[in-house]
Amino acid sequence: MRSLLVDDIGELVTNVSGDGEAGPLGIRRNVALLVEEGRVAWIGPTRDAPPADRRIDAAGAAVLPGFVDSHAHLVFAGDRAAEFAARMAGQPYTGGGIRTTVGATRAASDDELRATVRRLHAEALRQGTTTIEIKSGYGLTVADEARSLRIAAEVTEETTFLGAHVVPAEYADRPDDYVGMVCGPMLAAAAPYARWIDVFCERGAFDVDHARAILACGQAVGLGVRMHANQLGPGPGVRLGVELGAASVDHCTHLSDADIGALAGSPTVATLLPGAEFSTRSPYPDARRLLDAGVTVALATDCNPGSSYTSSMPFCIALAVREMRMTPAEAVWAATAGGAAALRRDDVGVLRPGVRADLMILDAPSHLHLAYRPGVPLIRQVLHNGVPRCRP
Ligand code: NIG
Ligand code: FE
Repeated sequence: MRSLLVDDIGELVTNVSGDGEAGPLGIRRNVALLVEEGRVAWIGPTRDAPPADRRIDAAGAAVLPGFVDSHAHLVFAGDRAAEFAARMAGQPYTGGGIRTTVGATRAASDDELRATVRRLHAEALRQGTTTIEIKSGYGLTVADEARSLRIAAEVTEETTFLGAHVVPAEYADRPDDYVGMVCGPMLAAAAPYARWIDVFCERGAFDVDHARAILACGQAVGLGVRMHANQLGPGPGVRLGVELGAASVDHCTHLSDADIGALAGSPTVATLLPGAEFSTRSPYPDARRLLDAGVTVALATDCNPGSSYTSSMPFCIALAVREMRMTPAEAVWAATAGGAAALRRDDVGVLRPGVRADLMILDAPSHLHLAYRPGVPLIRQVLHNGVPRCRP
């Protein structure tokens, strides 16, 4: 059995409350961490570290659980840089550009889509992401949704069927027929490759009745529920998600007191996606309001070619701290343990014996530097399932 010791960790973020210092991050100082068979086997003072086959010297740096990016759309073709430029010149974001990407995605070969997924997946890993959720939603035919999920499943177990992203142009005047197709043959073709089902519940996409019907069909075949809700304006989406027991409602940019009350009394996570507000020049959600009400908050990238073309969790942490009234500790927790909660996982997003050895070593002494040094590549090394992935 090959073992690996990460030695001389100055600050270890465990996310295990009661483990080390007070606060959400469970910080321990001057420790070492032993990896065996892809799992964390031991954590303890550096001076007590056991022998191991291999050693990585963290040299006093900070070590964190790998980021859990619980919301990304990586299966697509083309880009929408011109749309971004138009927005920066004053055009609003409407979601209408989704159909542009649908056209490009349908026209792409499997290998072209696979190459994009692998490129973005590798890009995310270099920035510390060791678990990533990937949605379909740019195919919107039975065959294109199924192949999107099949390709996503090659790189992650967290796959989400988003056939209800928008009503495609060919169904524009008969949305009921499209919903019937999503619940029927499209779901049947997608479900073998999907863990979750998602709906974009928003004016211009799917109303609450359609969203309820689609999510119920997904639940009936064993898929977990997650939603895009309350991104572009207020609405009933978040409350529907809570009612259906969604693992997460995502965006949450426009929330009423009733929405926050519903979330606070529920196990549903509010996943905030500040890359989307950045890239659509929209007002940021107020994370403080959610946190003060006792809601569990996650941060994710929403990586997609339209509203948020970033794979960087550190960038999202910096935005959340600067623009959404999160403390650096809250933002780091939301990007790791919060993402794990949004995916209902307890084997990632934390560091304690028994969990997957997914972690990153920073080129910095503290997690604070992720927000304090925005835009700087601070991830020195990433271990995924205990295997070093960035540099030797
Ligand atoms: O999460 N809002 C819906 N879907 C994506 C945007 C997709 C696009 O613009 O291509 C989102 O922001
Ligand atoms: Fe999204």
